[in-house]
Amino acid sequence: MVETSTRLDIAPLTQHIGAEIRGVDLRQPVDDATRDVIYQAWLDHLVIIFPDQKLEQEDLLRVSSYFGEIGALRRPPKFFPPGFNRLLPNIMLISNIRENGEPIGALPDGEMMFHHDMIHADIPHNGTFLYSVEIPTHGGDTWFASGYAAYDTLDPALKARLEGRNGIHHYNYGSTKKGDGHGTEAFGGAVHPIFRTHEETKRKAIYVNRLMTIGIEGMAEDEAMPLLEAVFDHAEKPQFVYEHKWRLGDLLLWDNRCSSHARTDFPADQRRLMLRTTIQGTVKPY
Ligand code: SIN
Repeated sequence: MVETSTRLDIAPLTQHIGAEIRGVDLRQPVDDATRDVIYQAWLDHLVIIFPDQKLEQEDLLRVSSYFGEIGALRRPPKFFPPGFNRLLPNIMLISNIRENGEPIGALPDGEMMFHHDMIHADIPHNGTFLYSVEIPTHGGDTWFASGYAAYDTLDPALKARLEGRNGIHHYNYGSTKKGDGHGTEAFGGAVHPIFRTHEETKRKAIYVNRLMTIGIEGMAEDEAMPLLEAVFDHAEKPQFVYEHKWRLGDLLLWDNRCSSHARTDFPADQRRLMLRTTIQGTVKPY
């Protein structure tokens, strides 16, 4: 039994993914034992939700630092949307709010396909925090899929065909659907195992996604793409997914090593504003 100064209530939200953590006010520093319990809940549940928080940017950075080194923004500053100059370093603004006709934040509009943040980097970021500041009346939900549950139940023949192979990942900053032409010229690419072993839990998870995975190393495109499509279709099945409906003041942290996420459409005439940080990875995926 770990003694913490905070009485935490950790409530799982689905069979495979998501837990809500109540009883902690993240404006206040948390003690080491509480941090350890929260960290373990993140590993166990892949996505953790802290409802009803009232955070300043400094609080978001402090809380993020409990989980490792804060990830740097990879997009070159010349592609920063205008709202980024109101942020502390390493915070990203996701928003459709427009000033002078231009979105102030990144990833402004509508639906977004399933993806793992920063999979296109050689050492991808372990986790992502997202904090809701303004939300539409409906839509703009974020869906999270457990890569563990999908891996465990993947068709054995498909699994055998892909075991030991690498996926090729590419991303144009700003794209929300594969090949939508919205991304900037600042792109990144990387190659990682299709089935990733999580370095802390040692569990295997599907590590390819519909938005950013464009091929399989050493395999012709016409052979690779149908196999990948079959994996995407399986990984996005509702039984592996937690659908998060945002409330004001929700702080979410998800594990990019073993989960992917997507966003649903929302009304273009309603405001949505989120603050995001990431946790830098420490190892190359294996
Ligand atoms: C993201 O994928 O980082 C953004 C998700 C969202 O806007 O809900």
